[in-house]
Amino acid sequence: MSESHDIEEYYNIAEELVLKAGKIIENAIDSYKNVQCKGIEWDLVTEYDRKIEDILQTQLSEIYPKHKFIGEETTAENKCLPKLTDDPTWIIDPIDGTTNFIHQFPHTCISVALVIRKKIEIGIVYNPLMKQFFSAKRQKGAFLNGRPIKTSKIANLSDSLIAMEPWIAKNSNYLVSVYSRMHALIQGTHGIRSLGTAALTLCYVAMGAIEAYHVESIEVWDVAAGKLIIEEAGGTVIDTAGGELDLITPRIIAACNHSIAEQLIQLFKTIVKYFKQKYL
Ligand code: IPD
Ligand code: CA
Ligand code: CA
Ligand code: CA
Repeated sequence: MSESHDIEEYYNIAEELVLKAGKIIENAIDSYKNVQCKGIEWDLVTEYDRKIEDILQTQLSEIYPKHKFIGEETTAENKCLPKLTDDPTWIIDPIDGTTNFIHQFPHTCISVALVIRKKIEIGIVYNPLMKQFFSAKRQKGAFLNGRPIKTSKIANLSDSLIAMEPWIAKNSNYLVSVYSRMHALIQGTHGIRSLGTAALTLCYVAMGAIEAYHVESIEVWDVAAGKLIIEEAGGTVIDTAGGELDLITPRIIAACNHSIAEQLIQLFKTIVKYFKQKYL
């Protein structure tokens, strides 16, 4: 017989722990940080990333000793991404937007999701600096500070504001595809934004502040909580090429509705083909 789960209880515990952990970010934002590089020069970490992940994981595992964890900094230390099983698994990004946190750019958050039998049941994204607490439980709606949120109703990509993160063009293999996509968005939408925090940007789609978000080369902890929050707010998160998202190796188009997601995919296909013919 499969084990029953009290999602309300899991949520209440997680909410309390995340709110407490948020104080660490609040207190640390303008103080000295020990900034280290995790291999690649732009992949930064501070003692606060490790501290928050450690606190969340230790406290959750004291209460739920059978639960599993996938956290960014533990994964980096072990140099191996754990497999997602059917067991309850907390997916933790202790600070999403570490570079923002280091620079005191106030878009930074804690992202926590609970996945059971490979379904995301709980998503929490909390920006303690702006006091924005985004949350969702599967099939129970999405909320910002306890108030229901919905994605934008805009139907045309040309009327949309889109977030994109071009940083993967630091790798020259991605130059043409990134620059061509940016060109497409500059020409085909109201504008581009780039916030440096995947989890919060997903929540901005969920609350209707932007219509869509595109990013590749991110990780499960960047996306898990925000994906549920968008879906519960009426939006969609799919693979960049269309089709279902692979949560463990995400490349995402997140959008306020399926039509905007499809329009974005089509625009990217056309423009990337054009750029390749013209410049390669
Ligand atoms: C990063 C942010 C950023 C995204 C990067 C992530 P981190 O997470 O979400 O927006 O573009 O891919 O690594 O390192 O600040 O937790
Ligand atoms: Ca990181
Ligand atoms: Ca992250
Ligand atoms: Ca992080």
